[in-house]
Amino acid sequence: MPLDDEARRILRLNDKGSYTVPTAGLYPYQWNWDSAFAALGFASFDVGRAWVELETLFSGQWANGMVPHILFHRDDPGYFPGPGIWGTEGVAGKGEGRVASSGISQPPVAASLAWRIYGCDPALGLPRLRALFPRLMAFHRWFVAARAESGAVATTHPWETGRDNSPDWDAPLAANDPVGVAPYTRRDTGHVNARMRPTKEDYDRYIWLVQFGRARGWDDAAIAVESPFRMADPTLTFILLRACRDLGAAADVLGEDRAEIDGWIAHLEAGAETLWNPETGAYDSRNLRTGALSGSVSNASFLCWWAGLTDPRPIPTLRRILGAAPFAVPSFDPEHPKFDTLRYWRGPVWAVMNTMIGLGMEEQGLGPQAARIKADTARLISENGFAEYFDPVNGTPAGGGTFTWTAAVWLAWASPSAGEG
Ligand code: GLC
Repeated sequence: MPLDDEARRILRLNDKGSYTVPTAGLYPYQWNWDSAFAALGFASFDVGRAWVELETLFSGQWANGMVPHILFHRDDPGYFPGPGIWGTEGVAGKGEGRVASSGISQPPVAASLAWRIYGCDPALGLPRLRALFPRLMAFHRWFVAARAESGAVATTHPWETGRDNSPDWDAPLAANDPVGVAPYTRRDTGHVNARMRPTKEDYDRYIWLVQFGRARGWDDAAIAVESPFRMADPTLTFILLRACRDLGAAADVLGEDRAEIDGWIAHLEAGAETLWNPETGAYDSRNLRTGALSGSVSNASFLCWWAGLTDPRPIPTLRRILGAAPFAVPSFDPEHPKFDTLRYWRGPVWAVMNTMIGLGMEEQGLGPQAARIKADTARLISENGFAEYFDPVNGTPAGGGTFTWTAAVWLAWASPSAGEG
């Protein structure tokens, strides 16, 4: 079908040989979770290329197990903040890794998507999965040790959650005065409409947190104790929980011991419960400095089923949100005063989140709701193109265009020709 052809064209367009950029201009490097989704998209027509994508991502893994949120393979002056700002060269945790990178991670969806890609061609995939397995273990081990002290997975920077400017982070960011931020020039607003991007107040605080981590040599223990920003996050928690289940399945196939993985699963399941907010009827983020829940109903709230939780409690809230948004799933509650149809993670629909939400709901017996989410995603893409994200009220495409992960999940899930259900 023509849209499948267009999606493959976009993946090839953004393919730099061994890794894929999210979109030219706005995001000219390799991003962690974007790349894992790119691999899933490639797997629908070139399984070998899919494995190369994951292998390149893990070539940037730090000695301590962390897989950075951005790998700066080739310098590009059109992006800020680039490698010079992160200052990760020579930091202890990084070890001898030669790929320039940021100092934080991103939602660890890699094991889940590696497991799916293995399923596309087990004969080809078995040696690749075997080679990647210890690296995936090290990545998860790092996340649990460095971030999961409360059971749920905490973040030290909004960018680590993948939901950069979600209202979840407003209170802890506002509580921190970004004193001493060195002068900088944003590049993102030179590529797309500023109305669709985070505000300057938010941006100053993002850069302040980068400087804070850099000043501590990206030392996880120091940052965990000293940073004013430590938020337990449903995106990271649910995605890691699911990734541990998938890594456990991989361990079974590879004949590896899975006791450590089972320990992580139990730890994260208990942690997930600390994110339940009875007042909103949804999973929420929690400020580990104050103990306060954010009061947010976001699209991350509905990743609970992707995480494998059999939990009916969020269903009434899910119904309310589906009823309030012409296009599902809005990244923030349409009935909340902070809802903003175009501003990034404060309202717009993101196709990758829909994919995980929809697949998880299908597995947990929420078939009709999952079908609605898939149909909305397919309509948004077929009527408005492969945009970075979409207005949940009228479908307006927003952010960057010719976007890799939107094309990838079209091929893997939303297209009528996709293998999944
Ligand atoms: C934005 C998104 C993040 C994504 C990146 C590259 O920062 O918030 O989730 O990984 O763009 O597409």
